[in-house]
Amino acid sequence: MSEIVLEARGIVKRYGHVTAVAGADFDLRAGEVLAVIGDNGAGKSSLIKVLSGDVVPDAGEVLLDGRAVHFRSPHDAQLAGIETVYQDLAMAPALDIATNLFLGREIRRKGPLGSVLRMLDVKEMRRQARQQMDDLGITTLQSITQPVDSLSGGQRQTVAVARAAAFGRRVVIMDEPTAALGVRESKGVLDLIRRIRDTGIPVVLISHDMPAVFEVADRIHIHRLGRRAAVVRPGDHEMNEVVGIMTGALPAPAPAGGTS
Ligand SMILES: Nc1ncnc2c1ncn2[C@@H]1O[C@H](COP(=O)(O)OP(=O)(O)OP(=O)(O)O)[C@@H](O)[C@H]1O
Ligand SMILES: [Mg+2]
Repeated sequence: MSEIVLEARGIVKRYGHVTAVAGADFDLRAGEVLAVIGDNGAGKSSLIKVLSGDVVPDAGEVLLDGRAVHFRSPHDAQLAGIETVYQDLAMAPALDIATNLFLGREIRRKGPLGSVLRMLDVKEMRRQARQQMDDLGITTLQSITQPVDSLSGGQRQTVAVARAAAFGRRVVIMDEPTAALGVRESKGVLDLIRRIRDTGIPVVLISHDMPAVFEVADRIHIHRLGRRAAVVRPGDHEMNEVVGIMTGALPAPAPAGGTS
């Protein structure tokens, strides 16, 4: 069995009277794409926000490379190498694409202009942003200096995906990254997910798109009523079985001890 990179045990997160996450476990292994599926409101985004430091859990623990971590903010998780594309995209709409890509880790000018006067190397950031978009095969963006609030929903999503892909060093998490995308762009994101995995960085993909999940995932984490109900391999189950487990129509299969 490959090593576990990111793990969570017994996560609980309540919002007032709503228990969004009710004792959830999670594990992400080296070199895999792990899909997380579940009905609306099952608690997927809430669990992911715990893993990415956006939400501090009421109970439970998170481990990165086997060591307990206590993220207080997304920045903490980013410092640890975890990049997340949120379902409700976190971007600065008035700023341009290049600035959004480098938000919080701006490149400064060389020498005292950068170190003393804190001046930004805008040219270099734009160059790298353009390069990054080209590398991802993103061709629908006309100018890197376009403000993000002038982009279409799908284009914004590709910027967020590009940002995560560029900066994720240990783990990349994507919450519904293709929800607003056209067919071609969705395919681009799925290709990108595979490419990230192939560089050795495991990817968590939250998605309602079952064909995409079956196409790209190595394992599928089925989330139900705030918990992990089962983990299955796409090759071992039909799509309708997996959907049955997700909705509760079918019982969750007993965990196979040591699925390799
Ligand atoms: N900030 C919040 N305040 C109050 N309740 C919340 C908040 N965030 C989530 N919830 C509630 O927690 C539950 C789980 O929500 P969550 O967004 O994690 O579900 P999800 O599985 O991601 O759903 P979807 O598939 O629709 O994205 C829901 O009942 C939701 O209403
Ligand atoms: Mg969600």
